[in-house]
Amino acid sequence: MKVLVIGGGGREHAICTGLSKSRKITKMYCAPGNAGIAEFAECVPIGVMEFDKLVAFAREKEIDYVVVAPDDPLAGGLVDEFEKAGIRSFGPRKNAAILEGSKAFSKDLMKKYNIPTAEYETFDNPSDALEYLEKAKMPIVLKADGLALGKGVLICKDKEEAKAGVKEIMEDKKFGSAGNRMVVEQFMTGREVSVLTFVDGKTIRVMTSAQDHKRAGDGDTGLNTGGMGTFSPSPFYTEEVDKFCREKIYQPTVDAMRAEGREFRGVIFFGLMLTEDGPKVLEYNARFGDPEAQVVLPRMKNDLLEVMEACTDGTLDKIELQFEDNAAVCVVLASEGYPVKYEKGLEITGLDNFKDKDDYFCFHAGSAFRDGKVVTNGGRVLGVTAKGATLKEARAKAYEATEWVSFDNKYMRHDIGKAIDEA
Ligand code: GLY
Repeated sequence: MKVLVIGGGGREHAICTGLSKSRKITKMYCAPGNAGIAEFAECVPIGVMEFDKLVAFAREKEIDYVVVAPDDPLAGGLVDEFEKAGIRSFGPRKNAAILEGSKAFSKDLMKKYNIPTAEYETFDNPSDALEYLEKAKMPIVLKADGLALGKGVLICKDKEEAKAGVKEIMEDKKFGSAGNRMVVEQFMTGREVSVLTFVDGKTIRVMTSAQDHKRAGDGDTGLNTGGMGTFSPSPFYTEEVDKFCREKIYQPTVDAMRAEGREFRGVIFFGLMLTEDGPKVLEYNARFGDPEAQVVLPRMKNDLLEVMEACTDGTLDKIELQFEDNAAVCVVLASEGYPVKYEKGLEITGLDNFKDKDDYFCFHAGSAFRDGKVVTNGGRVLGVTAKGATLKEARAKAYEATEWVSFDNKYMRHDIGKAIDEA
């Protein structure tokens, strides 16, 4: 089978690594891919939003199956385009990817179907939002309605911050048209957990849990990023929490989407907050999380292609997911200055140290080839993942492995998974 993966970050490297183990695949392409993905797939220089070129390429190469991994092409309807061309694809259609593409849609869905989440209001203009904030309880959460590279959420501790936030999102359009509408949400406290699930429209299969560290600096300080590291499983995601979520959150979400005529096939990522009143949904994503995929997929025992095809074909009820009884930690190596301003094109050395080591992975998030060398090509550069018998062991191994690779301005957090050691 010839497979084309869309995307070019650490998540896609983790997906390609998983797919490379499937015996059914005879040839893998990735658009645009990166220097790490090139080990498994032929990388093609087509951007993820160049729909016409992607479909033409898939036709020319007689691709049998496409995996659309990032949020923007999913929300833009790339799966629909491949389907129109008669090419089977993994991922939700546009009318289902709205689950992530519009925060207002997802909040209204949860309200309509009694899925636990924070209280909220939606606003189409800044003056109504500002009036509401006068009487609202602080802290409060502001969310740009649309996709904003995972950065469109502002947590405001007082009214002044909240008013400035409304200006940023709705007037200054810091997140572009994503801020034409805004959701204002009650602030929740508790442990955050990420749970990725496979969905085939009606059946849902739950993967092992994970947790992301979103802030740039140690101790959860600094700016929000795409994610500075992850660990899996989360010790706070107990059997009791899992049972509650399956009954009250996961299956009801799949059923709700179906009832709305928006059958969801692909991955639903449940961002959960474990509050004193029980688990609640913080956000939905319509794809694998990044860097969550970099700790979840290395622990999965199933043939990834087989599970993905079952989602597309509506046969997920025939699949039981299996995960290794261990733990994984991923430490992101970024370029100093990320997420604001950073250099690209810096040579990366030491990548060979990861060769033939079963428990270690070096997923490329932003890398490229230049003059026969591998160089940095993004703010997040590498995701160094290690597996261990326990989280503590996985953490020690991952940090040890961060020393195996070098590039100028290498920056990382030093406390990924640390709170867990101390829990
Ligand atoms: N790590 C969070 C996300 O993928 O959106």
